Parts: sequence; C-alpha cells; structure tokens
Amino acid sequence: METRAGDPGAFAQFDLTRVPSPAFVVDAAKVRANLAVLRHIGDASGARVLAALKAFSMWSLGSTVAGALDGVCASGLYEARLGREEYGGEVATYCAAYKAEDLPEICRLSDHLIFNSPGQHARFRPLLEAARMAGERFDVGLRINPLHSEGEVPKYDPAAPCSRLGFPIDQLRPEHMDGVDGIHMHVLCEQDFPPLARTWAAVEPLLAPFFGQLKWINFGGGHHVTRADYQVDDLIAFLKGVREATGCDVMIEPGEAVALDAGILIGEVLDLFDNGMNIGITDISATCHMPDVIEAPYRPAMLGEEADGTPTRLGGPSCLAGDVIGDYRLPGGAAVGPKIGQRFAFLDQAHYSMVKTNTFNGVPLPSIWLWDSESDELQLVREFGYEDFKTRLS
Ligand SMILES: Cc1ncc(COP(=O)(O)O)c(C=O)c1O
Repeated sequence: METRAGDPGAFAQFDLTRVPSPAFVVDAAKVRANLAVLRHIGDASGARVLAALKAFSMWSLGSTVAGALDGVCASGLYEARLGREEYGGEVATYCAAYKAEDLPEICRLSDHLIFNSPGQHARFRPLLEAARMAGERFDVGLRINPLHSEGEVPKYDPAAPCSRLGFPIDQLRPEHMDGVDGIHMHVLCEQDFPPLARTWAAVEPLLAPFFGQLKWINFGGGHHVTRADYQVDDLIAFLKGVREATGCDVMIEPGEAVALDAGILIGEVLDLFDNGMNIGITDISATCHMPDVIEAPYRPAMLGEEADGTPTRLGGPSCLAGDVIGDYRLPGGAAVGPKIGQRFAFLDQAHYSMVKTNTFNGVPLPSIWLWDSESDELQLVREFGYEDFKTRLS
C-alpha cells in the first residue's frame, strides 16, 4: 500500500539530535494549519467537524483541537472519557458492539451514541431509557454499511463483503429506525472527494424515506482533506447540498487529516552487517512503534532519503523476523552509506503510529515531543520507562 503523504514540511529543518532516540516529534504549527483547513470546511459548509481520537489522541493538544473543531468522535468508553476530560465540544461515540456495563458511563459522556446494529440498539433500549430518566441527554445513531466499496484494500474497506462494520443498508426497515436520530457511515480511507460523492449517490435513495425523522447524518472519516490536492471546495459544496436537501445536520469525523504530515518518528542505527544485503538494526521497531508498516502493509517515507546508492534493510531490535521497516538509502551521501549511531526519521508518523505503540519484547516506547516550527520551541511532553512496561503486566 502506498501512503499518500510524506511531505517533510518544516521537519526538513529539524536537527534530529535535539531529542533522545527513539522519539515522536509533533509540529504544533502543522497541526494548527491542518485544523485551520478543517475549520474552514466546517464554517463554509455548516457541517460539524469532529476529530477522530482513534487516529491522533495526543491530548496535550486537546484544547488546541477543541478550540478549532466542534468536538471529537470516540471508539468506546476510554476515548469518550478522554474527549470529555481533555478536549471539549461534542462527543460522538461509536463502537462495533457495546458492553452493558459500560453503557451508563458512555451515555453520560456522549452527545451521540451510535450503534452498529439495530439488534444492539433494541437490546439496550431499557438502559438508554434509564439513563435518560436519570437526566442524561444524548441522541442515538445507527451506523449503516452502504454496501458500496471505494477502498482498494479489503482490510481498510468497511464495505467489503461480509464486513462486520455497519448495518447492511439493503436490510434496513422502518422498524430499525424507531428511536434513531442519526445515520452514520464510514467507508473511506485516505480518499479524495469523488469516492464520498459516489457513496452518497449509492445510499441516498435508500435513506430518503427517513430524512424527515433524522436530525443528522455523519459521514465518518477517511477524507484526506488536509492533503494539498484534496478537492476542498467540492466537499464544502457537497456537505452544504446534503444539509439543504435532507434538512439534517451534517458531520464529518476526520482523524488522519488532523495530524497529516505533522509528526516524525526519530530513530538511530544500532548495528550494521551484511547478510546478502546491508542489514541495519535500529531502535525503532516496526512491530512496536509503527505496527501499520506490517499490518497495512506500507513503506513509510524517510526524511531526506537518498535517491541513489545501496539500500540498507532497516528493522527493529525485537525477536520478530518480520520486524522490518523496509529498505532505505539513509541520508548522508550515497557513497558514504549508513553509520552506526546515525539518526534518521520516518515522516508522517503522528497519526495511527503513536496510538498503536506497544512494548513487545520490552522494547522501550518513544518519548513524545512537541515542537513549534514557527517559534522553534521544543517541549518534552512525555517519556516512558521501565515502570510503563511493567505496569501493563502483572
Ligand atoms: C468510525 C470512524 N470514524 C472516523 C475514522 C477516522 O478515519 P481517518 O483517520 O481515516 O480520517 C475512522 C477510522 O477508522 C472510523 O472507523
């Protein structure tokens, strides 16, 4: 899979030795610039824009995100709580299936509670009634599966055959909509505007009978709106058009777009040897620090990678044979080759890498730094040690 980002932006000027390795460095100025694009979309279209915490939940930037957007979308109890505690605005919670014991708190934390199936909604209605009787105010949404695929990779296509995500729209009956205030759909991944327009064209006739009862329609995430060539004006016109045609409020919940090209992951070469090709062991692990490299899979872009020369296969310190990030020509001149102790950085690592890190093999977690490329201020946000590893185990 090719990732459609990787612009170094201001990181081209960042001295990689300013922080210990490994480290995530997030550029607050780039996050602000992304948020400004998203705010513009909200203002110009009248849509509400919620930041998807699953992609980027660096909560030290919570007030910055909340100050620009309308709130957050959460994947369950913990993210809903983080949204309330550290962000602000509205909280839309969707989970593929809720547990009864979590629901009272989720009802308390959420403005919009979105179910994946009419079955779960029906089963939990007494709990929802009890929460409302206790004074909680929230509305209910249903995630539909548009049964219209736009994704190239089935793993990232919630509308792929036999998907568990969203209620198949061809099964939707009026009785399923009883007590439902909003419709949610999420089928895109790093996509341009036309796939959204095609998805809406596929589902609109099937949803039209319910427009009168719906308060809102939520178009999920996957809109790559902060990429320079995204069709922002088309999205604005679309969201406005849907609001006018349906009489519903409209929401989007971008995640990746909030932090696109806003962070790097810095590592260091620990050892080099030859085994049929140049091998480099680094303190960055694909499996622990960038699991999407293996899961997607994809090849992250390297800051300043040379165009020519012999590549080195970079991998982490873990025991996993497949803990390989990829084959790279490290910066420093094609003729020189990589050196032990050399620093390097992978681009576009703020979203989906930081939230997925783990300590398999006891590999240390990267520290987290906030840099402001406008002021050059650099601040340590969090570092991790042995206790963080130990306290996740027993
Ligand atoms: C329901 C839902 N909303 C929003 C998002 C955010 O998507 P993205 O980060 O691609 O914008 C996702 C991502 O998986 C999602 O599943």
